Amino acid sequence: MAPSCTLNRYLLLMAQEHLEFRLPEIKSLLSLFGGQFASSQETYGKSPFWILSIPSEDIARNLMKRTVCAKSIFELWGHGQSPEELYSSLKNYPVEKMVPFLHSDSTYKIKIHTFNKTLTQEEKIKRIDALEFLPFEGKVNLKKPQHVFSVLEDYGLDPNRIPENPHNIYFGRWIADGQRELIESYSVKKRHFIGNTSMDAGLSFIMANHGKVKENDIVFDPFVGTGGLLIASAHFGAYVYGTDIDYNTVHGLGKATRKNQKWRGPDENIRANLRQYGLEKYYLDVLVSDASKPSWRKGTYFDAIITDPPYGIRESTRRTEEACSFPDNLAFLKFHVPVSLSYHLSDMFLDLLNFAAETLVLGGRLVYWLPVYTPEYTEEMVPWHPCLKLISNCEQKLSSHTSRRLITMEKVQKFENRDQYSHLLSDHFLPYQGHNSFREKYFSGVTKRIAKEEKSTQE
Ligand SMILES: C[S@@+](CC[C@H](N)C(=O)[O-])C[C@H]1O[C@@H](n2cnc3c(N)ncnc32)[C@H](O)[C@@H]1O
Repeated sequence: MAPSCTLNRYLLLMAQEHLEFRLPEIKSLLSLFGGQFASSQETYGKSPFWILSIPSEDIARNLMKRTVCAKSIFELWGHGQSPEELYSSLKNYPVEKMVPFLHSDSTYKIKIHTFNKTLTQEEKIKRIDALEFLPFEGKVNLKKPQHVFSVLEDYGLDPNRIPENPHNIYFGRWIADGQRELIESYSVKKRHFIGNTSMDAGLSFIMANHGKVKENDIVFDPFVGTGGLLIASAHFGAYVYGTDIDYNTVHGLGKATRKNQKWRGPDENIRANLRQYGLEKYYLDVLVSDASKPSWRKGTYFDAIITDPPYGIRESTRRTEEACSFPDNLAFLKFHVPVSLSYHLSDMFLDLLNFAAETLVLGGRLVYWLPVYTPEYTEEMVPWHPCLKLISNCEQKLSSHTSRRLITMEKVQKFENRDQYSHLLSDHFLPYQGHNSFREKYFSGVTKRIAKEEKSTQE
């Protein structure tokens, strides 16, 4: 950022969900819109109130057109740890920055927002009256005001120890809301074509944001399933493409996932899903293909690869059998029937990283879920590749001893020659190998046993 550039302070009101995913989302989006994330940003860990210093309101508006982790953004006029501190901070805010929003022809409304405490109507009115010293000249309009101002009070995170007075009080001009409503409007519950592992709508949008997906990008999902991740990318204007080893999934055939329906209907497929949301024009294609044997010519095709590989829990991890092992009279099956050859998770992730390193454009991102058995997890287990830089690694707990980690990597170096990276295949370079037994550990009862032991030592 140019040193002469003046930064304005904005208050972000974050959603209290998927806490670990919030910072990488905001950082990724800011870098997409030219508002670098400086280390001086005040993000307050788990708190819903973050202060951002960014160069322009345009960047703030662009950020809110994409985020599902933030609820709203405000131009911050004042901040304090007591009402007195807030008022003196407001008195120091330059009047020339306030005037355009307070003049006599304008209409406005002041809202009170509290976190971890509910105020009575009387208490709210008191707070509004205390702001009389601000040079408001416009008329109050509660239904359709031109400008909305908010007092935001933060009573901390502990619902069992709510303080009498707020830890922090903010006052700001509301600028825009985020895209939280997408979580409802794209809910899997209302989706035409779904499967056992269809990705939750909120997480799909977070993944597309971590992947910095933008208009006219080409986004690929090599384990496409019912295409949940393609939908989120298409919503942000990217052209989408996917492959899956399962013939029935790609062609929308076979048993339905919904309880009250036996077979999938004639139009239950990924294309119809995109059509349901008015996004069909972004559909490139989906093919039956095995991710362990990519059939791509050498080249860089994708701006982002966003995917949820199988862990072997609700769907098997499979690779196709070599064609020669089918007898002649069954040779046609090789196109339709993936043989359940075990596809070790470590091989699958190594293939995925190699494929991303080869086919992503420089600066393009790979976003994927890595399942881990938490008692054994260490950061060294996260697969790496010399062409890909780790951007973020966020945990989502699945059970007391298992979780999945959302890994985001960026291509920072040109891929030269596959052979050059063959050393990555050696055991030494695969600390994730222990996790090949993720499925066994998940089902073995180890998880339950440890939880039981832990409970008995606590008693
Ligand atoms: C977790 S699901 C993906 C779900 C998807 N994100 C959705 O929203 O429906 C993983 C998918 O990987 C597919 N798969 C398993 N092994 C594969 C392989 N070797 N190559 C390509 N796809 C594979 C499975 O058929 C399954 O549809």
